[in-house]
Amino acid sequence: MYAPAMARHALIIGGARGIGYGIATRCLDDGWRVTIAGRRSRAEDLEVRGAAWLQADVSDPTAAAKLIEDAGEIDALVVCSGPYHRVPLLKETAEGWRSMFTNNLDPVFFLAQAALPGMKERGFGRIITFSMANAERLQANPFVAAHYIAKVGVLVLTRTLAKAGGKWGVTANTISPGFIDSGSATPAELESMIKHIPAKRIGTVDEAAAAAAFLLSDDAGYVNGTNVVVSGGWGI
Ligand SMILES: NC(=O)c1ccc[n+]([C@@H]2O[C@H](COP(=O)([O-])OP(=O)(O)OC[C@H]3O[C@@H](n4cnc5c(N)ncnc54)[C@H](OP(=O)(O)O)[C@@H]3O)[C@@H](O)[C@H]2O)c1
Repeated sequence: MYAPAMARHALIIGGARGIGYGIATRCLDDGWRVTIAGRRSRAEDLEVRGAAWLQADVSDPTAAAKLIEDAGEIDALVVCSGPYHRVPLLKETAEGWRSMFTNNLDPVFFLAQAALPGMKERGFGRIITFSMANAERLQANPFVAAHYIAKVGVLVLTRTLAKAGGKWGVTANTISPGFIDSGSATPAELESMIKHIPAKRIGTVDEAAAAAAFLLSDDAGYVNGTNVVVSGGWGI
Protein backbone atom coordinates (compact mmCIF):
# COMPACT_ATOMS: atom_id res chain seq x y z
CA MET A 1 0.00 0.00 0.00
CA TYR A 2 1.27 3.49 -0.91
CA ALA A 3 2.32 5.32 2.25
CA PRO A 4 3.42 8.94 1.69
CA ALA A 5 6.09 10.37 3.98
CA MET A 6 3.93 13.46 4.57
CA ALA A 7 0.21 14.10 4.65
CA ARG A 8 -1.53 13.34 1.39
CA HIS A 9 -1.93 16.35 -0.86
CA ALA A 10 -5.22 17.31 -2.52
CA LEU A 11 -5.45 19.91 -5.29
CA ILE A 12 -9.00 21.25 -5.27
CA ILE A 13 -10.07 23.36 -8.23
CA GLY A 14 -12.77 25.75 -7.05
CA GLY A 15 -11.98 24.99 -3.40
CA ALA A 16 -12.57 28.57 -2.23
CA ARG A 17 -16.34 28.42 -2.74
CA GLY A 18 -19.38 26.20 -2.59
CA ILE A 19 -18.95 22.43 -2.64
CA GLY A 20 -15.20 22.77 -3.27
CA TYR A 21 -14.90 24.83 -0.08
CA GLY A 22 -16.71 22.06 1.79
CA ILE A 23 -14.30 19.46 0.37
CA ALA A 24 -11.24 21.58 1.20
CA THR A 25 -12.53 22.02 4.77
CA ARG A 26 -13.18 18.30 5.11
CA CYS A 27 -9.75 17.42 3.71
CA LEU A 28 -8.04 19.72 6.23
CA ASP A 29 -10.15 18.15 9.01
CA ASP A 30 -9.05 14.70 7.80
CA GLY A 31 -5.34 15.62 7.84
CA TRP A 32 -4.76 16.25 4.14
CA ARG A 33 -2.47 18.94 2.81
CA VAL A 34 -4.65 21.15 0.62
CA THR A 35 -3.98 23.40 -2.35
CA ILE A 36 -6.92 25.41 -3.65
CA ALA A 37 -6.96 26.75 -7.19
CA GLY A 38 -9.27 29.23 -8.87
CA ARG A 39 -9.32 32.33 -11.00
CA ARG A 40 -10.11 34.86 -8.27
CA SER A 41 -11.96 33.51 -5.22
CA ARG A 42 -9.92 32.84 -2.11
CA ALA A 43 -10.83 31.37 1.27
CA GLU A 44 -8.70 33.18 3.85
CA ASP A 45 -10.00 31.03 6.70
CA LEU A 46 -8.69 27.90 4.94
CA GLU A 47 -5.38 29.59 4.11
CA VAL A 48 -5.02 30.41 7.83
CA ARG A 49 -5.44 26.68 8.44
CA GLY A 50 -2.56 25.94 6.04
CA ALA A 51 -4.21 25.62 2.64
CA ALA A 52 -2.15 26.99 -0.23
CA TRP A 53 -3.78 28.97 -3.04
CA LEU A 54 -2.77 29.04 -6.69
CA GLN A 55 -4.29 31.29 -9.31
CA ALA A 56 -5.30 29.50 -12.53
CA ASP A 57 -7.99 29.51 -15.16
CA VAL A 58 -8.23 25.79 -15.85
CA SER A 59 -10.20 26.28 -19.07
CA ASP A 60 -6.83 27.14 -20.61
CA PRO A 61 -4.69 24.04 -21.35
CA THR A 62 -1.38 25.81 -20.72
CA ALA A 63 -2.58 27.25 -17.40
CA ALA A 64 -3.98 23.86 -16.35
CA ALA A 65 -0.67 22.10 -17.07
CA LYS A 66 1.28 24.84 -15.27
CA LEU A 67 -1.04 24.53 -12.27
CA ILE A 68 -0.29 20.81 -11.97
CA GLU A 69 3.43 21.57 -12.18
CA ASP A 70 3.25 24.40 -9.61
CA ALA A 71 1.17 22.33 -7.18
CA GLY A 72 3.98 19.74 -6.91
CA GLU A 73 3.24 16.11 -6.04
CA ILE A 74 -0.49 15.64 -5.69
CA ASP A 75 -2.29 12.54 -4.46
CA ALA A 76 -5.76 13.81 -5.32
CA LEU A 77 -7.21 16.03 -8.03
CA VAL A 78 -10.71 17.33 -7.28
CA VAL A 79 -12.27 19.36 -10.10
CA CYS A 80 -15.21 21.30 -8.65
CA SER A 81 -15.24 24.20 -11.13
CA GLY A 82 -18.25 23.88 -13.39
CA PRO A 83 -20.34 26.95 -14.15
CA TYR A 84 -23.98 26.66 -15.11
CA HIS A 85 -26.20 28.74 -17.30
CA ARG A 86 -29.83 28.43 -18.17
CA VAL A 87 -31.00 29.56 -21.60
CA PRO A 88 -33.46 28.10 -24.12
CA LEU A 89 -31.60 26.03 -26.69
CA LEU A 90 -32.72 28.13 -29.66
CA LYS A 91 -31.58 31.32 -27.90
CA GLU A 92 -28.15 29.90 -26.98
CA THR A 93 -25.16 31.80 -28.38
CA ALA A 94 -22.02 30.23 -29.79
CA GLU A 95 -20.07 31.84 -26.94
CA GLY A 96 -22.46 30.54 -24.26
CA TRP A 97 -22.42 27.06 -25.79
CA ARG A 98 -18.61 26.92 -25.94
CA SER A 99 -18.15 28.33 -22.44
CA MET A 100 -20.08 25.42 -20.90
CA PHE A 101 -17.66 22.95 -22.52
CA THR A 102 -14.46 24.94 -21.94
CA ASN A 103 -15.27 25.40 -18.23
CA ASN A 104 -16.95 22.07 -17.37
CA LEU A 105 -15.47 19.39 -19.61
CA ASP A 106 -12.13 20.60 -21.00
CA PRO A 107 -10.50 21.25 -17.57
CA VAL A 108 -11.04 17.63 -16.53
CA PHE A 109 -9.07 16.45 -19.57
CA PHE A 110 -6.31 19.08 -19.32
CA LEU A 111 -5.78 18.58 -15.57
CA ALA A 112 -6.04 14.79 -15.51
CA GLN A 113 -3.70 14.41 -18.46
CA ALA A 114 -1.10 16.51 -16.65
CA ALA A 115 -1.63 14.88 -13.23
CA LEU A 116 -1.75 11.20 -14.23
CA PRO A 117 1.99 10.66 -14.93
CA GLY A 118 2.94 11.71 -11.36
CA MET A 119 0.16 9.59 -9.86
CA LYS A 120 1.30 6.65 -12.00
CA GLU A 121 4.88 7.06 -10.77
CA ARG A 122 3.75 7.01 -7.13
CA GLY A 123 1.24 4.20 -7.68
CA PHE A 124 -1.59 6.14 -6.06
CA GLY A 125 -4.10 8.74 -7.13
CA ARG A 126 -7.63 9.95 -6.63
CA ILE A 127 -9.47 11.95 -9.29
CA ILE A 128 -12.90 13.34 -8.46
CA THR A 129 -15.03 15.21 -11.00
CA PHE A 130 -18.47 16.82 -10.83
CA SER A 131 -21.43 16.11 -13.06
CA MET A 132 -25.17 16.56 -12.29
CA ALA A 133 -27.74 14.22 -10.82
CA ASN A 134 -29.71 13.36 -13.97
CA ALA A 135 -26.72 13.14 -16.36
CA GLU A 136 -26.75 9.33 -16.51
CA ARG A 137 -30.32 9.41 -17.81
CA LEU A 138 -29.40 11.16 -21.08
CA GLN A 139 -32.50 13.34 -20.89
CA ALA A 140 -33.53 16.17 -23.20
CA ASN A 141 -32.81 19.39 -21.31
CA PRO A 142 -33.74 22.28 -23.63
CA PHE A 143 -33.05 25.01 -21.02
CA VAL A 144 -29.64 23.79 -19.89
CA ALA A 145 -28.55 21.89 -23.00
CA ALA A 146 -24.89 22.95 -23.20
CA HIS A 147 -24.29 22.52 -19.47
CA TYR A 148 -26.08 19.17 -19.42
CA ILE A 149 -24.24 17.77 -22.45
CA ALA A 150 -20.90 18.93 -21.02
CA LYS A 151 -21.74 17.16 -17.73
CA VAL A 152 -22.60 13.95 -19.62
CA GLY A 153 -19.16 14.33 -21.19
CA VAL A 154 -17.59 14.67 -17.73
CA LEU A 155 -19.15 11.34 -16.71
CA VAL A 156 -17.86 9.52 -19.78
CA LEU A 157 -14.41 11.14 -19.57
CA THR A 158 -14.13 10.23 -15.87
CA ARG A 159 -14.97 6.59 -16.62
CA THR A 160 -12.34 6.65 -19.35
CA LEU A 161 -9.79 8.02 -16.87
CA ALA A 162 -10.81 5.26 -14.44
CA LYS A 163 -9.98 2.68 -17.05
CA ALA A 164 -6.73 4.38 -18.02
CA GLY A 165 -5.42 4.85 -14.47
CA GLY A 166 -6.78 1.77 -12.72
CA LYS A 167 -3.70 -0.38 -13.18
CA TRP A 168 -1.52 2.27 -11.53
CA GLY A 169 -3.60 2.58 -8.36
CA VAL A 170 -5.42 5.67 -9.59
CA THR A 171 -9.18 5.88 -9.18
CA ALA A 172 -11.43 8.35 -11.02
CA ASN A 173 -14.99 8.86 -9.86
CA THR A 174 -17.73 11.44 -10.33
CA ILE A 175 -20.01 13.11 -7.80
CA SER A 176 -23.34 14.21 -9.23
CA PRO A 177 -25.17 16.71 -7.03
CA GLY A 178 -28.86 17.43 -7.27
CA PHE A 179 -29.69 20.69 -5.50
CA ILE A 180 -27.05 21.68 -2.97
CA ASP A 181 -27.13 24.97 -1.06
CA SER A 182 -23.68 26.04 -2.30
CA GLY A 183 -24.46 29.72 -2.86
CA SER A 184 -24.77 29.44 -6.64
CA ALA A 185 -28.61 29.44 -6.66
CA THR A 186 -30.87 31.91 -4.80
CA PRO A 187 -32.86 30.66 -1.77
CA ALA A 188 -36.07 31.21 -3.81
CA GLU A 189 -34.76 29.06 -6.68
CA LEU A 190 -33.81 26.29 -4.26
CA GLU A 191 -37.13 26.54 -2.38
CA SER A 192 -39.06 26.03 -5.62
CA MET A 193 -37.29 22.69 -6.19
CA ILE A 194 -38.10 21.10 -2.83
CA LYS A 195 -41.42 19.62 -3.97
CA HIS A 196 -39.55 17.64 -6.67
CA ILE A 197 -37.01 16.14 -4.26
CA PRO A 198 -37.99 12.88 -2.52
CA ALA A 199 -36.05 13.95 0.61
CA LYS A 200 -38.14 17.19 0.66
CA ARG A 201 -35.14 19.35 1.39
CA ILE A 202 -32.10 20.90 -0.28
CA GLY A 203 -28.74 19.20 0.26
CA THR A 204 -25.86 20.75 2.15
CA VAL A 205 -22.28 21.37 1.06
CA ASP A 206 -21.18 19.06 3.89
CA GLU A 207 -23.27 16.23 2.44
CA ALA A 208 -21.58 16.60 -0.95
CA ALA A 209 -18.18 16.86 0.77
CA ALA A 210 -18.87 13.63 2.68
CA ALA A 211 -19.15 11.76 -0.63
CA ALA A 212 -15.78 13.21 -1.66
CA ALA A 213 -14.22 12.25 1.69
CA PHE A 214 -15.28 8.64 1.09
CA LEU A 215 -13.92 8.59 -2.48
CA LEU A 216 -10.62 10.05 -1.24
CA SER A 217 -10.28 7.52 1.56
CA ASP A 218 -8.40 4.20 1.61
CA ASP A 219 -11.79 2.53 2.08
CA ALA A 220 -12.61 3.55 -1.51
CA GLY A 221 -9.47 2.04 -3.06
CA TYR A 222 -11.54 -0.42 -5.11
CA VAL A 223 -14.23 2.10 -6.09
CA ASN A 224 -13.31 3.19 -9.58
CA GLY A 225 -15.31 4.66 -12.46
CA THR A 226 -18.47 5.14 -10.45
CA ASN A 227 -20.92 8.02 -10.15
CA VAL A 228 -22.07 8.99 -6.66
CA VAL A 229 -25.38 10.84 -6.91
CA VAL A 230 -25.98 13.21 -3.98
CA SER A 231 -29.49 14.43 -4.66
CA GLY A 232 -31.87 13.28 -1.91
CA GLY A 233 -33.40 11.11 -4.64
CA TRP A 234 -33.96 13.91 -7.17
CA GLY A 235 -33.49 12.73 -10.74
CA ILE A 236 -34.28 9.06 -10.13
N1 LIG B 1 -24.53 23.35 -6.31
C1 LIG B 1 -25.35 22.51 -6.90
O1 LIG B 1 -26.51 22.35 -6.52
C2 LIG B 1 -24.86 21.68 -8.06
C3 LIG B 1 -25.77 20.90 -8.78
C4 LIG B 1 -25.30 20.10 -9.83
C5 LIG B 1 -23.96 20.10 -10.17
N2 LIG B 1 -23.10 20.90 -9.46
C6 LIG B 1 -21.67 20.89 -9.84
O2 LIG B 1 -20.88 20.76 -8.67
C7 LIG B 1 -19.67 21.53 -8.80
C8 LIG B 1 -19.53 22.49 -7.65
O3 LIG B 1 -20.67 23.35 -7.65
P1 LIG B 1 -20.74 24.69 -6.79
O4 LIG B 1 -22.15 25.13 -6.81
O5 LIG B 1 -20.05 24.51 -5.50
O6 LIG B 1 -19.87 25.67 -7.72
P2 LIG B 1 -19.54 27.22 -7.50
O7 LIG B 1 -20.05 27.70 -6.19
O8 LIG B 1 -20.00 27.88 -8.75
O9 LIG B 1 -17.94 27.20 -7.44
C9 LIG B 1 -17.18 27.01 -8.54
C10 LIG B 1 -15.72 27.30 -8.16
O10 LIG B 1 -14.93 27.01 -9.29
C11 LIG B 1 -14.06 28.10 -9.59
N3 LIG B 1 -13.95 28.15 -11.05
C12 LIG B 1 -14.95 28.27 -11.96
N4 LIG B 1 -14.44 28.27 -13.22
C13 LIG B 1 -13.09 28.15 -13.09
C14 LIG B 1 -12.02 28.10 -14.01
N5 LIG B 1 -12.21 28.20 -15.35
N6 LIG B 1 -10.75 27.97 -13.54
C15 LIG B 1 -10.54 27.88 -12.19
N7 LIG B 1 -11.51 27.92 -11.28
C16 LIG B 1 -12.78 28.06 -11.72
C17 LIG B 1 -14.74 29.33 -8.99
O11 LIG B 1 -13.81 30.28 -8.53
P3 LIG B 1 -13.36 31.55 -9.45
O12 LIG B 1 -14.61 32.15 -9.99
O13 LIG B 1 -12.57 32.43 -8.56
O14 LIG B 1 -12.51 30.94 -10.51
C18 LIG B 1 -15.45 28.73 -7.77
O15 LIG B 1 -14.58 28.73 -6.64
C19 LIG B 1 -19.76 22.20 -10.19
O16 LIG B 1 -19.08 21.41 -11.13
C20 LIG B 1 -21.24 22.20 -10.48
O17 LIG B 1 -21.53 22.23 -11.87
C21 LIG B 1 -23.51 21.69 -8.44
